[in-house]
Amino acid sequence: MPLDYSPEEVAVIRRAIAPSPPKPPEEVIDAMRPAPGMPVPEHMPPFWKLFDLELPLFLRLTADPTVKALSRYAFFPEVFERLRSGSDLPKLEFSGRARGMVVTLIFADRAVVIKPLQSVREDQLALIAGQIGVGPVQLETLPGYLTEEFVSGTFFTELPEERQTDDHLTQIGFQVGKMLRQLHQADIYYNDVTFSDPKGRSHLLVALNGACRLIDFGISLNLDQHPELTRDEVHNFVRTLPMYRVFRSMAEDESHVDRFLADYAVKLAASSKLEITSRDLLFAQQGLKTAARQMGERIVEPIKDGFLGGYAV
Ligand SMILES: Nc1ncnc2c1ncn2[C@@H]1O[C@H](COP(=O)(O)OP(=O)(O)O)[C@@H](O)[C@H]1O
Ligand SMILES: [Mg+2]
Repeated sequence: MPLDYSPEEVAVIRRAIAPSPPKPPEEVIDAMRPAPGMPVPEHMPPFWKLFDLELPLFLRLTADPTVKALSRYAFFPEVFERLRSGSDLPKLEFSGRARGMVVTLIFADRAVVIKPLQSVREDQLALIAGQIGVGPVQLETLPGYLTEEFVSGTFFTELPEERQTDDHLTQIGFQVGKMLRQLHQADIYYNDVTFSDPKGRSHLLVALNGACRLIDFGISLNLDQHPELTRDEVHNFVRTLPMYRVFRSMAEDESHVDRFLADYAVKLAASSKLEITSRDLLFAQQGLKTAARQMGERIVEPIKDGFLGGYAV
């Protein structure tokens, strides 16, 4: 049987890899080399916490072909259970920028995505977004990570021209409007690019049948505690303000940033939820403008029409 570890061993391994440990100290890296000067096996750094206290287990993992192929991902519930019940190894694809490594594991019959949390409450947000059908469905996971459904489709900005008919664009606009409305009704402020950022990247996936979904709730805010917001939440809000980027580059030390966040917390507490969530509409408008530079001005009217209809229902 692949991954033949006892339940106790699995628990020990999972505690070592999740939440993701800090980088190993130099002396541990050195000790992990099979021989002086040789590189540490590529799949082993995530398991470094097992190195001194659980050396026999560490050595078994080092030699395990499934762990060689999948490293830490072998022990995530969605992967582990499948492999133990005889599934073939998934194919791996890596992406991710802001949050670090995002991996898509492609099995013969389905694909799942595993990514580190980008904010403290992202798991809660992603769960709600998944339940209301706006974001990927959330699956069983390990602390500090999301495991979610892979949403198949084409990013909005990559839609081929033959799929940019007025009808189709209106439908897409409608769904984006509706998704933002649903998020706002669930007290979630998305706070990110929907249609397109200046580099042509989008968080909007359009399936072949036209169904739309948003991914990445890493800097979204759950406003359920508003007017109280944590420092992490205030930070997520301000990081999408152009003025914050300017401020950050000028701030001499962390205490300036702290002051800025404290002042902004007061400001957000005094704003209504509606004032906060309405920035998503501004982002949508800006993103559409940006997308039109690449895709052509003619996309604007149908999308806008659809969007207004979808947000209003
Ligand atoms: N659930 C998902 N379904 C399909 N693709 C995904 C999913 N989650 C992430 N991705 C892919 O991985 C990339 C990075 O994920 P994302 O959550 O946006 O992280 P980051 O915060 O690093 O931008 C996305 O742009 C997308 O290509
Ligand atoms: Mg992203």
